[in-house]
Amino acid sequence: MKRKVIIDCDPGIDDSLALILALNSPELDVVGITIVSGNVKAEQGAKNALKVLKLMKREDIKVYIGEEVPLVRELITAQDTHGEDGLGETNYKEADVEINYGGVDFILENARRGDISVIALGPLTNLAKAIGRDEEAFNMINEIVSMGGAFKSHGNCSQVAEFNYWVDPHGVKEVFEKSKVPFSMVGLDVTREIILTPNLIELIKQIGGEVAEFIVNITRFYVDFHWEQERTLGCVINDPLAVAYFIDRSICEGFTSYLDIVTEGIAIGQTLVDVGEFYRKEHNGLVLTKVDSKKFMKIFLERIFKDNKKDIEIVINNEKYGLI
Ligand code: RIB
Ligand code: CA
Repeated sequence: MKRKVIIDCDPGIDDSLALILALNSPELDVVGITIVSGNVKAEQGAKNALKVLKLMKREDIKVYIGEEVPLVRELITAQDTHGEDGLGETNYKEADVEINYGGVDFILENARRGDISVIALGPLTNLAKAIGRDEEAFNMINEIVSMGGAFKSHGNCSQVAEFNYWVDPHGVKEVFEKSKVPFSMVGLDVTREIILTPNLIELIKQIGGEVAEFIVNITRFYVDFHWEQERTLGCVINDPLAVAYFIDRSICEGFTSYLDIVTEGIAIGQTLVDVGEFYRKEHNGLVLTKVDSKKFMKIFLERIFKDNKKDIEIVINNEKYGLI
């Protein structure tokens, strides 16, 4: 049974990989893509989403720009990580498809229809605006799976803050405090285990084809950033894990907790996971803490390269290649 989803994102290199995975997953019916400012400004993010839809021959799916600035903070983008264009400075030609606005209303219209879930891969500004505009409709959303936050893992924007939640902590707080929708936090504790290593990038290159070429091209800049920034060889692809987890819950393990977030000061953007029940408050989220990275990578590659499942099976399971 296909599940209807809206993908709310800030493409973004790993957002683009997540979109490719979602579009190649038979379990999902992507009813629309909403864009939020994060890695790049929302207008550029929308253009990038359209480039991915063109690549995947899915220009039937509509893209809606939502909120272009965080609720309170000044927008800080991540073009140092994703490139000026948000796709590793590949500057692919723009799709000549109109860009819609009204992303927040699109989320609420679908929420009212029922039977919709949201996979959120960027800051939660669109979701925060939606709940502020029509809380009753918002709470008709089936579930939210959000890539963001960190429990025990160190941050990627400060010692304690993960980018999506750091960009708009007030948006996160709005959702944490008002939402009654089941919420899964796919944070750095699990996404840091998902690394597209040089060997995996070579495997993708050898598989070949348009999609493979796009992935190799847009990740080049991202790999260089990871080496310069943290001596990681390869690149952490956070967002596809949120899509894969939505499809197959066995990929990750975690626990429910009361969640809050710091909205000012030196620790701004830090997710507070009340594992010790100090606040004695109702649990408002599921925090993922363990991931089967090999299982993820098989799912990811076998869906993106449906015709090469056999190669992938052989190579992924062959320890000597040291892919993961
Ligand atoms: O911290 C990683 C997250 O921030 C990912 O979603 C990445 O695309 C950026 O949005
Ligand atoms: Ca993202």
